[in-house]
Amino acid sequence: MDDQIKEAKAIINSTSSITVLTGAGISAESRIPTFRGEEGLWRKFRSEELATQEAFQRDPKLVWEWYDWRRGLVKEAKPNPGHYALVNLENEKPNFTLVTQNIDGLHQLAGNRNIIEMHGNLWQIRCTSCGIIEQNHDVPLKEIPPKCKNCDSLGRPNVVWFEEIIPISIIDNILIAIERCEVMLIVGTSGVVEPAASMGLVAKHTGKTVIEVNLETTPNSSHYDISILGKSGEILPMLL
Ligand code: OAD
Repeated sequence: MDDQIKEAKAIINSTSSITVLTGAGISAESRIPTFRGEEGLWRKFRSEELATQEAFQRDPKLVWEWYDWRRGLVKEAKPNPGHYALVNLENEKPNFTLVTQNIDGLHQLAGNRNIIEMHGNLWQIRCTSCGIIEQNHDVPLKEIPPKCKNCDSLGRPNVVWFEEIIPISIIDNILIAIERCEVMLIVGTSGVVEPAASMGLVAKHTGKTVIEVNLETTPNSSHYDISILGKSGEILPMLL
């Protein structure tokens, strides 16, 4: 076993308190496309046409068709060994929080419980008028764009789009989880989208040990204590 993995494993074994931040990379081995990189969604699609409030107002049908397609991809997907390693970790650590930027719900499907979803959830529809959130797993959707079951107004994906603000209560809970932990593990995120990108730095500045697992180095890798290069589906089961 490589020295970095041994060192990270020893650090994780010795703590009872860990916060994990995941990004699209952890679901890549479940065949869900990431956003950046060669096969990334933002290479094929223009985010301003599909993932902004303005785009939705202009053409809700187009935006929903894209989300319907993504729901189809995710419906076929299963959690991979990286997801399951985090379930084992939660079972072992009394103080465990999993913060995810992913909207695919695969952490829940794998069995993690204490999850903070920063960017929403693909399986939820939020009414643009009364705000009610509906859980909906239809693939394909029965109606595009979907209507609110409560007031018949237009529904939108319950996700955070570009230029939208993450609810302050969610940010607060993430900061509390970082404050409480001793070790932060950051997996499969390019570290370019705020505020998630700065969470590892917040942890570092407040004296936590930060371990990163990614296929490649990220803009913040040099600030972290350990940066392990490799697939999360292979590295996490060795680490945890
Ligand atoms: P990105 O697509 O930006 O980055 C994915 C990261 O995962 C990259 O750094 C890859 O090197 C790494 N990666 C790919 N496969 C991996 C594997 N098998 N094991 C480990 N690492 C792997 O995805 P995010 O950082 O999650 O936001 O993107 C952040 C946000 O940008 C998303 O939540 C989304 C997007 O725009 C919204 O939609 C609001």
